[in-house]
Formats: sequence, C-alpha cells, structure tokens
Amino acid sequence: MIATAKRLEGIGEYYFSQKLREIDELNKQGKNIINLGIGSPDLPPHPSVIQTLQEESAKPNTHGYQNYKGSPVLRKAVAAWYQQWYNVTLNPDSEILPLIGSKEGIMHICMTYLNEGDKALVPNPGYPTYRSAVKLAGGVCEDYTLTEENNYFPDFAVLDKVVETNKQAGTPVKLFWVNYPQMPTGTAATQALFEQLVAFGKKHQIIICHDNPYSFILNDQPASLLHIEGAKDVVIELNSLSKSHNMAGWRVGTLCAAKERIDEVLRFKSNMDSGMFLPLQLAAAKALELGQDWFNEVNAVYRARREKVFMLLDLLQCTYSKQQVGLFVWAKIPAGYANGFAVSDEVLYGANVFITPGGIFGSAGDNYIRISLCGSIERFEEAITRIQKQKQS
Ligand SMILES: Cc1ncc(COP(=O)(O)O)c(C=O)c1O
Repeated sequence: MIATAKRLEGIGEYYFSQKLREIDELNKQGKNIINLGIGSPDLPPHPSVIQTLQEESAKPNTHGYQNYKGSPVLRKAVAAWYQQWYNVTLNPDSEILPLIGSKEGIMHICMTYLNEGDKALVPNPGYPTYRSAVKLAGGVCEDYTLTEENNYFPDFAVLDKVVETNKQAGTPVKLFWVNYPQMPTGTAATQALFEQLVAFGKKHQIIICHDNPYSFILNDQPASLLHIEGAKDVVIELNSLSKSHNMAGWRVGTLCAAKERIDEVLRFKSNMDSGMFLPLQLAAAKALELGQDWFNEVNAVYRARREKVFMLLDLLQCTYSKQQVGLFVWAKIPAGYANGFAVSDEVLYGANVFITPGGIFGSAGDNYIRISLCGSIERFEEAITRIQKQKQS
C-alpha cells in the first residue's frame, strides 16, 4: 500500500462531492431527488457573454497559453467593475489577479502565507474550504464562532485574546478569513464591521482575507472591504463571477489587493497553472460590463423563489430571518431533532428532497439547515408537495 501524504490526514473528500454521488445512486434507483443543496446558479449567463465566448473561440489566434496575470482586458474590466459598484480604485496592472474561480484563491493565499503551524482564524459556521485550505497548507485553524445573538459578527474582544495568546506561544495568527455577505448565515456586513476588521488587521498585523462572492445577490448595497480607508495595507479580497453572473462552471474569479500581495500570491499561483482560456476571459470582461438591469432581473427570480423557500421552511417548522442576503436561506431547526443532519436525512429519505445540514459549515451550524435558491419555482413547489405528503403519512 502506498500511503497518502500526511497533509491529507484529517481532510475528507468535500462534503458535496460525496453527497452528490449518493444522490446519483438514489436517482439511479428512480428516486428523482430534488436537490436544494448546492449554490450553483441554474440560469444562464447573459446572451452577450455567450456570444463573446463563441466569437472569440472561433478565432484562430485565441488558443495559446495566456499571461499568468490574466488578460489586460479582464483586469481593466475588474477595475472598472470595482469602481462602479464598490467605489474602490484598483490599478488594473498591479492590484488585480484573475483566478480560476475564487476557490483556488483560498488555497493560493494559504500556501503563500502560512508556515507549518501558523494559525488562521476561520468562521464557524463558514465555507468549509477555508478550513481545508489552511490545513492542506500546513497551518492550524482557530475557529471563531459566529452566533445569531451577535448578528453573526466576530467577537473582537475574544479574537484579541486569541491572537495575543498565540503570539506568546510562538504560533502567530497570520490570516483572518471573513466573508460578508456571510455564507451560510446570509448576514450582510455593516460599515462599522468593515472598519473594525481593517483596524483589527492593522493592530495585529494580520492579513484580512475577505471572500466576497455574494454581494450582488438579493443585496441592495454591494460592498467591498477594500472601500475602507487604508484597507489595502492588510486586506486581500476575493471576488467571483460564479454567483453574480451565473457563471459558476466557467471558473472565473479575481483576487484584489495591494501590488505586493498580488506579486507574493503570483509567486505561488504561477507555478500551479498556466493562465486561463482567452475567450473565457474576454467573455468574463463582457459580463462585468452588465448594468443594474442584469442584477434586477436575476434578483427578481431569486426573490420569488425565496418566498417558496420560506413556505417550505414553515412546513418544516424552522425559524429564520427574512432579512438574509445571498443565494441561500439559513434556518434554525425545530426542537425534537438531534441536529440539522437528522432533518436533512428525514426529508432526503422520506420525501426525496435534499437540503444541506448546517453542521457541514462547522459545529456552530449543527442546529440549522441551509436551502439554496438555485432551483426553479416548480421544483420548490414540488418539494413542498412532497414534504406535505410525507408529513401527512
Ligand atoms: C463563501 C464562498 N466562497 C467561495 C466560493 C467559491 O466560488 P467560486 O465558484 O468562485 O470558486 C463559494 C462557492 O460556493 C462560497 O460559497
């Protein structure tokens, strides 16, 4: 037997990668599972984006390796997008690094900054990739709990102590992973929270890694942490076209930061891949030109679906806030269930509907479930009917 590397110890296969296999198996048995789990937009990108991809890929000279720093056209489009929507000025030549989806950026940042045993603050509940990327890079996670009582904001007094204790122990905290609008809880940031984050990063000389893929979904005020004065001293922001432009499968994201940070991350990333297909980058640039109409259209669809999700959650006797933003609804399970996994299993095996258990986002999510808005109204109605039937039987 050839043993896997030590760095894989404690790293399981990604939850959805396993779960989708199980759902496939159930479908093969004729179950026709309604999957309300994954946040993969089911609607297509804007037709002008597809057209650009088609036209550019039909040209003979667009098929070679590309610049490691991305096409200047895409970097300029990202800069214009940040200026228009976030009021943040970025230098397209030095402060933007296009990514093959923001998920890879999480790994690149960890590999660039963490030495063996260095600490990174990760949200609980939070996107599971922060945790696995920190571990794969040899770092150690310091979970910080986000509670409903504290509006799912970090408790900075607790974090001050965590950072000081680690400094004294010789295991410095180097990275602080944050994500607002927060996934899975649907919490939007406030200006005050963003100011506190930047101040915290400066006080402790920690890089604040802000992951920002949901700012345009059901959120009237898209915000970037880089908008805070002096943020470039300590902030790296990841952004993505996956959710905002219905391009999850295209794998286009961006990393925005001061030139020094971009150069540091590029030292790692340029050894990992060899750029992105040019027509895809040019089509992504086209997508970034889309205006308010695009977001209005997308959000009208999600708003209507969310009403159905609220109905479904009422049926399950869950409690939830209607003020949530982003692509999901986060809800507390009723008393009487051991945890969200029990609720998820009950509807999966009893009603052929898959709902994500909150516990996969960390222990603080144990008593919650998360429903994705990426399904048609008809699918939600069918899910409601199935669960109603299950309840009656
Ligand atoms: C919080 C968060 N960050 C990052 C990602 C990854 O996005 P991308 O498709 O850009 O890799 C996701 C995807 O679900 C997410 O929920």
